[in-house]
Amino acid sequence: MNTPPSNEIHTVCWQGDTDGYLEILDQTALPTVVKHVACKDVPSVIESIKMLRVRGAPAIGIAGAYGMVLAIDHAKNSYDTDTKKMSCLQQLAEDLATARPTAVNLRWAIERIKKLILDSGPIPDYSELQQSILDEAKCIQHEDQILCERIGEHGCSILPEGDILTHCNTGALATGGIGTALGIIVTAWNKGRRFQVFADETRPLLQGARLTAWELAHRQIPVTVLVDAAAAHLLKTGRIGCCIVGADRITANGDTANKIGTYGLALLAKAHNVPFFVAAPSSTFDLDLQSGDEIPIEERSENEVLEPFNFRSAPATATAFNPAFDVTPASLIAAIVTERGIIRDVSLETVASVITRGT
Ligand code: MRU
Repeated sequence: MNTPPSNEIHTVCWQGDTDGYLEILDQTALPTVVKHVACKDVPSVIESIKMLRVRGAPAIGIAGAYGMVLAIDHAKNSYDTDTKKMSCLQQLAEDLATARPTAVNLRWAIERIKKLILDSGPIPDYSELQQSILDEAKCIQHEDQILCERIGEHGCSILPEGDILTHCNTGALATGGIGTALGIIVTAWNKGRRFQVFADETRPLLQGARLTAWELAHRQIPVTVLVDAAAAHLLKTGRIGCCIVGADRITANGDTANKIGTYGLALLAKAHNVPFFVAAPSSTFDLDLQSGDEIPIEERSENEVLEPFNFRSAPATATAFNPAFDVTPASLIAAIVTERGIIRDVSLETVASVITRGT
């Protein structure tokens, strides 16, 4: 099967003009079923984000931005005064921005759209505004595609020899382009580098097994799935040249929130002297937060742990602890690859010097 570029995967795709709708590849059905869902109103976009039909920090930012095109449609058709329309729009923007709390890209994208709304004044031409919001959402998606390519290029320069261990899914399914951490892997492979990719299955929702392995298999890049708990044993074999993961939010000092299990993997990498890399666009940095302690960590339903994929795996009386993310301290990260360059010796100073430098 040929390599599917991101636009063939159609992770997130706006169909039609301003009166169109958002089409999302339903990632909960992968890898067995490839189907798309049509989101024709804001609640259905929020549902898709909360249920992880669309997931991955940059991709939910893009979906949220398109959700604002639907928000303005609802506001303009449901209310008779500008004050009511604007207040409805503000509320829908907030509902979208808080659909998932950890990935900062979602709020970042909504804030970009809100700025357009504010700039349009108290009595805007709603049709014109809706067109500008659609254009901005498309721009956010297109920009992310370019950022992924740059991350891929930068990342290749630090990729050591050896096999690669990754966690969760950071590819075309999680972004507007080829991906962040997975984008580096794909870019290196396309340049002729050869390695085996090991993908943690990523409990409890199996983004590694279901999504990363699916993407890599499509691209004919060899992938081996392992249970998360096998990572220590694998690292001990010495065949892993590096670990690369993505990020949902990176604070000013470089602390990084990513899928639950990332912190454990970083500790294991340190113990085995294997470099641990993070790859993320500048939209994933939250320089208003000083350290990872300030990052809100999403806790998800106990059922994801106790009854994964409709299989009851623990007694009815058991409860579950299900944080969706954890925070890896900067001290465990060998480098952060961004579209603006590589942050080495990760610290307040090095993060600021790369992220505030511009593209
Ligand atoms: O809960 P998910 O599947 O949205 O979590 C996704 C991750 O943790 C990714 O690693 C992160 O968003 C980076 S995607 C480029």
